[in-house]
Amino acid sequence: MANAIVVYGSETGNTEAVAEQIVVGLKDENFDVVLKNVTDASVDELSNYDLILLGSSTWGDEEKELQVDMVDFYEKLEGFDLTGKQAVAFGCGDSDYTHFCGAVDLLEERLEEIGTNLLYEGLRVDDQDDEVDVRAWAREIVERFKKGV
Ligand SMILES: Cc1cc2nc3c(=O)[nH]c(=O)nc-3n(C[C@H](O)[C@H](O)[C@H](O)COP(=O)(O)O)c2cc1C
Repeated sequence: MANAIVVYGSETGNTEAVAEQIVVGLKDENFDVVLKNVTDASVDELSNYDLILLGSSTWGDEEKELQVDMVDFYEKLEGFDLTGKQAVAFGCGDSDYTHFCGAVDLLEERLEEIGTNLLYEGLRVDDQDDEVDVRAWAREIVERFKKGV
């Protein structure tokens, strides 16, 4: 059975709720999934998983800013080598801001820098939109994982 880790940083619980739905979606597809708040996760453990999902909400306005708990983890990722791993990013934001879900952009950039293959476009959940089908997104991830896209 393939395994996955979902690591998220969330200020008010929105990205945490999305992370929980992603976990349900992956479990439905028989993935062995670990869910961690970034405050409990270490960069080193990522290499134990076939599929890595990193999530953060976006803060700030002038610049793209990660949720505060994610900052340290993100910095530690720099220079880390996860070549050959499959990965994808996600997070919540608000399209009223200049950099809508800018943190997802940052996570995708870093995941590419450290050698992962981005399986799919990151999930960017808008506070203004309550119709987002997170589980459908998770199913698409699994399809792509199986095909080795
Ligand atoms: C002070 C402040 C700054 C924010 N800046 C951004 C931003 O730059 N881009 C964005 O997409 N959302 C921004 N947001 C919206 C949050 O990212 C959004 O509410 C998100 O759902 C919070 O998720 P969380 O509960 O997981 O932290 C901001 C919200 C606040 C209160």
